[in-house]
Amino acid sequence: MILKATDENIKKAAEVIKKGGLVAFPTETVYGLGADALNKEAVAKIFEVKQRPLIDPVIIHISKFGDLEKLGYVDERAIKLAKAFWPGPLTLVLPKKDIVPNIVTAGLDCVAIRMPAHPVALKLIKYSERFIAAPSANLFSKLSPTKAEHVYEQLGDKVDIILDGGKCDVGVESTIIDLTTEKPTILRPGGIPIEEIEKVLNEKIEIAKKAKIKAPGMLKKHYSPKTPLKIMENPKPIKGLKCGLLAFKEEREGFDAIEILSKKGDLKEAAANLYDCLHRLDKANVDIIIAETIPEVGLGRAIMDRLRKAQGL
Ligand code: TXA
Ligand code: MG
Repeated sequence: MILKATDENIKKAAEVIKKGGLVAFPTETVYGLGADALNKEAVAKIFEVKQRPLIDPVIIHISKFGDLEKLGYVDERAIKLAKAFWPGPLTLVLPKKDIVPNIVTAGLDCVAIRMPAHPVALKLIKYSERFIAAPSANLFSKLSPTKAEHVYEQLGDKVDIILDGGKCDVGVESTIIDLTTEKPTILRPGGIPIEEIEKVLNEKIEIAKKAKIKAPGMLKKHYSPKTPLKIMENPKPIKGLKCGLLAFKEEREGFDAIEILSKKGDLKEAAANLYDCLHRLDKANVDIIIAETIPEVGLGRAIMDRLRKAQGL
């Protein structure tokens, strides 16, 4: 059931969370599929509904800075980053405290935590008086939702309430940084550009190599539409195939469907439109989606990461 995210409906949804149910809710990045993080059975429902393997840990969402240290062991770097970027699209991976159930962390000894910036997400956490475990509200390995309709199309009525808060403005998932090691590493590029994190920590940050798969978002095929996707620097339609184009800023000739990420060539706008454009191309009845390369700076890095995962190479 999709409900408009009015204060009254957020309160209703908070009751569902308290009782161990599932609520899909908007965050500034993508829609999340939330459950009470400290209730194992409730978290198990997330895995069931998403058809997500139990080896894939889930991020815990909090609404107060003080809650961070209830869940993880905090160091100076974590405090600096939380102060600089929260509420916002940054997830911190820290050594976990015992109250965090193993199902949330998939048995790892670390926990991923973030404070989302979306007012609906923050209210839901506050009203429910719980920490909310939430992956993106899509089927495992499929396209992430940036609108309530996207959630309904994939998960339907298996979710107790879908709170509709409109389109997500960041549009790509949070950046995940692992702080369990001496050298911090980026497990997933996302809504906060790596360059900005480097400025705050005053050091160069590595992006984790495939060898160290901690986040299935790091798997080769992920975030993918049903239609095959191919990245091209100079997109041209392929003869004999109905081709859709995911363009950065300009249209091109000969395609059967075209989506433009940002006519101004603005990376922020492009990220915000990414999944929505992919959802539309996936429904356009084309044989293949051809995606134009995007400059790999700032948010462009998260966009190219998602396109490569969608391509599966
Ligand atoms: O923007 C976001 O991060 C969205 C919104 C809803 O907050 N959430 C999201 O969750 O993208 P999900 O589950 O789709 O992707 C989270 C990634 C997964 O690839 C997971 O493996 C990784 O975070 N992760 C979660 N807990 C972790 C942990 N303890 N250690 C390492 N990676 C972890
Ligand atoms: Mg996801």
